[in-house]
Amino acid sequence: MKCSLWNGVGAVGFGASALFACAGDEDTAPPQTEVGALEPGPLLSYGCRQDETKQSTPRGLANAPKTLRAADRQVGAAVSAAGLEDPAYAQTVAEQFNQLTPENEMKWESIEPEPGVFDFSRADTIVAFARDNGMHVRGHTLVWHSQLPAWVEALTGADAVREAMTRHIQMVMAHFRDTFPGTVVVWDVVNEAMNVMQGPMGGVPIYRDSVFSRELGEGFIAEAFQIAHDTDPDVLLFYNDFGVEGVNGAKSTGTFDMVSGLVAAGVPIDGIGFQMHTAPTDQGPNSADFAANSARYSALGLQVEITEMDVSLCSTGSNVLGQELQRFRYNSIVSSCFGSPACRSVTLWGITDPSSWLNSNGCTQGTLVLDTKPAPLAFDEAYARKPAWWGIYDALAGCQYQ
Ligand code: G3I
Repeated sequence: MKCSLWNGVGAVGFGASALFACAGDEDTAPPQTEVGALEPGPLLSYGCRQDETKQSTPRGLANAPKTLRAADRQVGAAVSAAGLEDPAYAQTVAEQFNQLTPENEMKWESIEPEPGVFDFSRADTIVAFARDNGMHVRGHTLVWHSQLPAWVEALTGADAVREAMTRHIQMVMAHFRDTFPGTVVVWDVVNEAMNVMQGPMGGVPIYRDSVFSRELGEGFIAEAFQIAHDTDPDVLLFYNDFGVEGVNGAKSTGTFDMVSGLVAAGVPIDGIGFQMHTAPTDQGPNSADFAANSARYSALGLQVEITEMDVSLCSTGSNVLGQELQRFRYNSIVSSCFGSPACRSVTLWGITDPSSWLNSNGCTQGTLVLDTKPAPLAFDEAYARKPAWWGIYDALAGCQYQ
């Protein structure tokens, strides 16, 4: 269903209620008498819903039967083990999502801080929460140049790196395979292995410098996938990266060529993760470009996922207009992904705005740090649903804004 602007550009002003559910959800909307104070609503209305009186967004989740946890879609979020200790955070996660990604807890420095010494405790907290709430987990990530312990960075020689990489993949995957059968269903086996070198003729795709590419050559990617497959042939194995979401651009082209080469060589890869750290005004990619990119990976026989979506408001400000543009962006990209049969899931990179990784740098202009906040996610600091949430919700209901 495409949802066009309702009554033309229906600027209804600040403080108006949200008007954006798609047809069919009227029965689940909470009655007005239960909702209490309403959040500021979005500026524009789209012709997705027919009954304006039931479109308001209640503050908090107590009166909120609506959920992104749609039965036939995998909709996920990155979470932290520490966050799950907060009851409001845990309630939101359990009510709204059916797939989780540990934001940091499965990374090499967290899980194998010393050679052969494994600490699964914080990752286990998240995977147990997922299992107990009927969710799947995306394992993130096995081989990545970042968040490596110093001892891995210091390895020299192909044999030493191969031995460490093999042990790490085998031990980590076997742990979750055996401790939580059927819960971790997909792994980011290799993360962010591609890069771009700028030259006089423009950008040229290259393999990113890392201890893995230095010591094993580009073949480390195929090796990692083979080890992962041999360890657990029942889970999906993904390559995950940023800046590869659209068709054009040196990195996107280089990554497609690299992944095509893996497929042609019979390497056991199941899919590509598009991170999708983006902004409302980004044209890279628009929904058609993203769909075209998904289609070419699908033609290789691969699944696609949006693995780390957030929409930073640094360029627009976190005002009503910014929030509307953000809602539109979420709607258009989530619609585009689920419009492809190859799209397995969409994951948001965090729960509430204040918990986003983007706050660590804030919004900057040159060396200036601005007062503007990135506010890139679907829930605000009080766990209230933002216009962005409605954009995702409408996309899941098959309503794509025009
Ligand atoms: O855990 C330590 C804590 O003990 C210490 O006191 C504190 C002091 O700074 O640092 C804490 O570690 C931080 C860690 O997040 C956990 O909060 C690191 O400094 C910080 O660098 C780290 O940032 C993470 C980042 O990856 C590292 O590259 C972000 O949370 C995480 O969201 C981000 O996620 C990545 C994906 O894995 C891959 N794609 C890009 C995405 C965004 O950068």
